Amino acid sequence: MQTLLLKSNQIDEAGAILRKGGLVAIPTETVYGLAANALDGISVAKIFEAKGRPQDNPLIVHIADLGDVETLAAYVPPVVYDLADAFWPGPLTIILDKSEIVPDEVTAGLDTVAIRMPSHPAARKIIRAAGVPLAAPSANASGKPSPTTAAHVMKDMDGKIDAVVDGGPCEVGVESTVITLATRQPRLLRPGRITPEEIEEVLGDELIIDDAVLGKMKENEKAASPGMKYKHYSPSAEVIIVKGTLESFAKFVNGRAGEDVAALVFDGEEDKIDCKTINFGEENDDLAHAQKLFDALRACDDEGVRTLYVRCPGDEGVGLAVMNRLLRAAEFKVLEV
Ligand code: TXA
Ligand code: MG
Repeated sequence: MQTLLLKSNQIDEAGAILRKGGLVAIPTETVYGLAANALDGISVAKIFEAKGRPQDNPLIVHIADLGDVETLAAYVPPVVYDLADAFWPGPLTIILDKSEIVPDEVTAGLDTVAIRMPSHPAARKIIRAAGVPLAAPSANASGKPSPTTAAHVMKDMDGKIDAVVDGGPCEVGVESTVITLATRQPRLLRPGRITPEEIEEVLGDELIIDDAVLGKMKENEKAASPGMKYKHYSPSAEVIIVKGTLESFAKFVNGRAGEDVAALVFDGEEDKIDCKTINFGEENDDLAHAQKLFDALRACDDEGVRTLYVRCPGDEGVGLAVMNRLLRAAEFKVLEV
């Protein structure tokens, strides 16, 4: 299959492919999504095929109009409207009990459906042009870092999908915050740009942080969010998070420097490091870390890096999302030096 590269104003072309049951990678403010008609199980099944995604990992349904929540969910708790008011369109995904119209292919057989309204204007235009809600996981090959540019998508998906719409680099850089309201108490399943504190302010209630956010899931443990249990976001390189001061980090890495070793460091630290370096923003800039993380992990593969040592960022605010992704990329390998 020839994968078309469309510009962000070629909305009608993208909509037509989606209406015909095809797959189109679309820009969103978080990461690129691999979209199909969410109401058609056969179209949605093609997403799993193209990504090599495990069948038990459900997809997020993307909408452009708030009214669509009512057709996708069996019941809409009033607080959803408060959350929508505060955060939609934007990087928050809400899980609710699903209605009859949502096919099993989207929810992987669960009784719940994940819904979000993206803020990237091209994403909402494409949803409207398709005339249906769009199921869209991140547009990477399963297990790889999520794509934050159209070039990342092409790298993983060229020849496997109908088209990619180039909407420029994603502003947020990590996937949406996922919360479930289908449990007795609201629960955070995946951290993102919208922080737990911001959500609690709207809920007027505690948001429980699921153990899987920063913890490693045990073998056979049932995942609240199936996506949390897989090795994820990983470049081919072995990723190791190294906690300590810049001096101790530099000493540790420099003792291991080599052709195929690289360090992911904060801006301005390059001079202290004897091996290849990749930057991910100033030390205290959690937004920059989020925006650059996946691009940095992908750069490792492009440069043939076998071992990547990562300066450990803070886990406050959006840093929680950065640490959540990094821990998975590193398969929870964290060293203190
Ligand atoms: O920002 C994003 O959310 C991006 C863009 C494209 O919108 N999408 C995205 O999709 O990250 P994906 O499939 O890579 O991640 C969806 C996450 C997975 O961890 C999945 O297990 C979880 O949401 N999820 C989806 N539906 C669920 C459900 N009904 N119950 C629990 N978890 C669910
Ligand atoms: Mg993903």
